[in-house]
Amino acid sequence: MSLDSVEHPASGTADGTPRAGANTLVRMTGSGEPEARIHTAEGPRPTPGKGKVLIEVEAAGVSYAEVQMLQHLHPFPPKFPFVPGYDLVGRIVEVGPGVTGWKSGDRVAAMPRQGAWQRFVELPTTTLAAAPDELDAAVAVALITNGVTAYQMLHRSTHLRPGQTVLVHGASGGVGALLTQLAVHHGLRVIGTASPAKHDTVRDLGAEPLDYRTPDIVAAVRALAPQGVQAVFDHIGGRGLDAAWTMLAPAGTLVSFDSSVAGYRPGQWFRPHVPALRRTVARYFARLLGLTGGRRMSMYYVKPGPNFTTDYAELCRLAAAGVLTPRIAGRHRLAGAATAVRALLDGSSVGKHVLLP
Ligand SMILES: NC(=O)c1ccc[n+]([C@@H]2O[C@H](COP(=O)([O-])OP(=O)(O)OC[C@H]3O[C@@H](n4cnc5c(N)ncnc54)[C@H](OP(=O)(O)O)[C@@H]3O)[C@@H](O)[C@H]2O)c1
Repeated sequence: MSLDSVEHPASGTADGTPRAGANTLVRMTGSGEPEARIHTAEGPRPTPGKGKVLIEVEAAGVSYAEVQMLQHLHPFPPKFPFVPGYDLVGRIVEVGPGVTGWKSGDRVAAMPRQGAWQRFVELPTTTLAAAPDELDAAVAVALITNGVTAYQMLHRSTHLRPGQTVLVHGASGGVGALLTQLAVHHGLRVIGTASPAKHDTVRDLGAEPLDYRTPDIVAAVRALAPQGVQAVFDHIGGRGLDAAWTMLAPAGTLVSFDSSVAGYRPGQWFRPHVPALRRTVARYFARLLGLTGGRRMSMYYVKPGPNFTTDYAELCRLAAAGVLTPRIAGRHRLAGAATAVRALLDGSSVGKHVLLP
C-alpha cells in the first residue's frame, strides 16, 4: 500500500511501531499552523477499564472538525493539548472486566470525536458499532462521521421522494460527495455546489455542478429548478442561509449542518453559529404560525446511539454493494497528520484523508 505522507515517526521503533507496552499518539498543542501544533508522541498503552475495550486502530479519519479545533473555532472547543481524531476503525485486542457481546479480534467502528489518532484507543463498548471484515479500513472510516451525517440528513432530517430536486453545498467534499451519491441512489435530482476545478468530480457523482461563488446563486438555482428545491444542505451558514431559504420550494427543508463561514478570529468559536441558531428558532415559530408556506429549517449534529449503529450498518451494506464509493484523498501515517490537516485547510483535495497507524 502506498502512503501519501510518511514523515519520520517521533517515537517508537524505526518503522514507527511503538515499543512493547507503549502507544503512539498525535497531540494538538494549541491554535496555529498544523505543522507547528500537531506532533506525534509516545504514551503508555492503556489497559481497558470496566465495560471498556482496547482497540488497535487500523484507520482514523481526518475531518474538518480538526481544522476548526486548530483554529479554535469548533462549536465544542477542546482544551489544548489533546489527542484529536473524530472516528476510527480497528480491532479489539483486549477486553476489560464486565464486557459482554464483544471479544478480541472483533472489527469495530466508533466515533469518539476526540482521541482516535493513536495506535491503541480505549473505548466503552456502548460507543461501538460492528465494522464488516471485507471493507477497506479507509473506506470503512470514511463511512463513519461523513457517511452517517450524509445518511441521516437525507433520510432522517428530511422526507424526500424520488424525482424531487435538492441542493447539496460542497458536493465535492467528504460529506457532500456521500450525500450526493446517496441522494442520486434515492432517485433525487441533485444540484451540487463546488469550486469550478471540482465540477467534473460533482458530475461524476451524478449531480449538476454549480459554482458556490456565483454572484446571484438564488437566480442560478431558480434557472435550474424554477419551482425551487425540496431541500438545501448547508455547512457554511451566515447570510448564505437566507439565500438557501429563498431557494426552497413550498414544504421544503433547509438543513444546516455547520457554520464554517470565513471571517472569524481564532477563539470566536460560538459566534459563527449564532446566525444559524437565530434563524432556526425564528423559523420554527414562524412555521407554527403558518408563515413559512410549510418550509422548515433544522440544524443537524451527528451523535452516537442506536440510529448511528443502524445507519452505519446500512452504509457498509451500500458500500459493499458498490452503491457508495467514498473517495480517499490521502493515506498517511500518524506522523503525517499535520500534512493531512494542511490539505483540508487549503481545500486542495477531494475526499477523505485517513491516518493508518
Ligand atoms: N453537523 C455534523 O454532525 C457534521 C458532521 C460532519 C461534518 N460536518 C461539517 O461539514 C462540513 C464539511 O465537512 P467535510 O469533511 O465534507 O469537509 P471537506 O471535505 O473539506 O469539504 C468541504 C466542501 O465545502 C466546499 N466549500 C468551500 N467553500 C464553500 C462555500 N462558500 N459554499 C459552499 N461550499 C463550499 C468545498 O468545495 P471546494 O473544495 O470545491 O472549494 C468542499 O466541497 C464541515 O464544516 C464539517 O465540520 C458536520
